[in-house]
Amino acid sequence: SRYALILAGGSGQRFWPVSRDALPKQLLKLFGEKTLLEMTVERLEGIVPVENIVILTNKQQESAVRALLPQLPAENIIAEPEKRDTAPAIALGVGWVVARDPGATMMVLPADHLIQNVAEFQKVLMNAAMAAESASSLVTVGIKPTWACPSYGYVERGKRASVLGVTDVAIYEVARFREKPNPDLAEHFIAQGNFTWNAGMFIWTIPAIFSELSRHCPALADFVSELRGSLDFNATVAKQFSKLPKLSIDYALMERASRVLNIEATFDWDDVGNWTSVGRYLKKDAGNNQHNCALSQLDADNNLVFTQTGQHVALLGVQDLIIVASKDALLITTRAHAENIKKLADQLPQEL
Ligand code: GDD
Ligand code: MG
Repeated sequence: SRYALILAGGSGQRFWPVSRDALPKQLLKLFGEKTLLEMTVERLEGIVPVENIVILTNKQQESAVRALLPQLPAENIIAEPEKRDTAPAIALGVGWVVARDPGATMMVLPADHLIQNVAEFQKVLMNAAMAAESASSLVTVGIKPTWACPSYGYVERGKRASVLGVTDVAIYEVARFREKPNPDLAEHFIAQGNFTWNAGMFIWTIPAIFSELSRHCPALADFVSELRGSLDFNATVAKQFSKLPKLSIDYALMERASRVLNIEATFDWDDVGNWTSVGRYLKKDAGNNQHNCALSQLDADNNLVFTQTGQHVALLGVQDLIIVASKDALLITTRAHAENIKKLADQLPQEL
């Protein structure tokens, strides 16, 4: 049967002051009434039953996650004892699923993306699951790149593949996978034309992922085996998890794996990495000011205002600002500095 493993344990600082360590991007209501995590779970309706949806998070975020997803069985929400990035998190999820269904197909999904075309998303995932099952490969999802973004993974496409069961989406062999190239290399990839962005979604069968982990990440494969044979899952996690290598799945496995396919994403995809990206989805006034609150302005344009306070905001004669108000903090910066908010957040007092 088919399982979804949702990675929801990342930390958030780029959306300070709205995001905090215990309240990262996937747990925020940036786009109306629902968090990105809730939307991620809802996108699976009709293709993965709730009892097969597993959420991987950490102790700090666990209670917030449970409160958002009461429809999931309690044991499907797993809290990692500490943050060790996505490779150990995925191994933990593989161990959880393998104990229930050793032949399962898994869709590994990030919790922090905005995707609106659900029908198209489901079509691609179903085709990817078919490909994973009939080719025993690790399937990645390729996003058509629009610029040389250095904070994504890049997938170099090889030949068009013909895979049993994949009928209405293009699928390719993967020549190589490069996680977060430096800006020059990213430019080079874009110029070459046969690279796509890695969507951060992975689809594979348990036997396929176990065999690749055994070859390239033996410590993770051993952890999976130990979980599978364990009589006390939580005790094994508590004992072993903090000893696992702190690495993302992209570096730990995807850059090294040999049997990888890339399926074309025909749905919209936004990683919404900073306030500027969020702004694109907010209301806009005549002066091109993006906002989620009551706003008046005179001679002010191209500003972004996001508040959680219910205050009325008035702008006079300012341009290109980002203004974000949470209950206990206020951020004022410019659009040009949106990428550096993480650096600022690092220097703030502990309680913020
Ligand atoms: N459970 C758990 N534990 N989840 C985690 C952890 C962890 O330790 N660390 C990160 N995550 C979650 C995040 O919440 C997010 O949903 C997902 O895993 C991906 O982690 P990010 O930290 O956001 O990765 P990234 O954006 O730098 O890079 C990945 O995604 C890009 C696309 O957005 C890579 O897969 C890139 O190759 C890809 O292009
Ligand atoms: Mg991300």
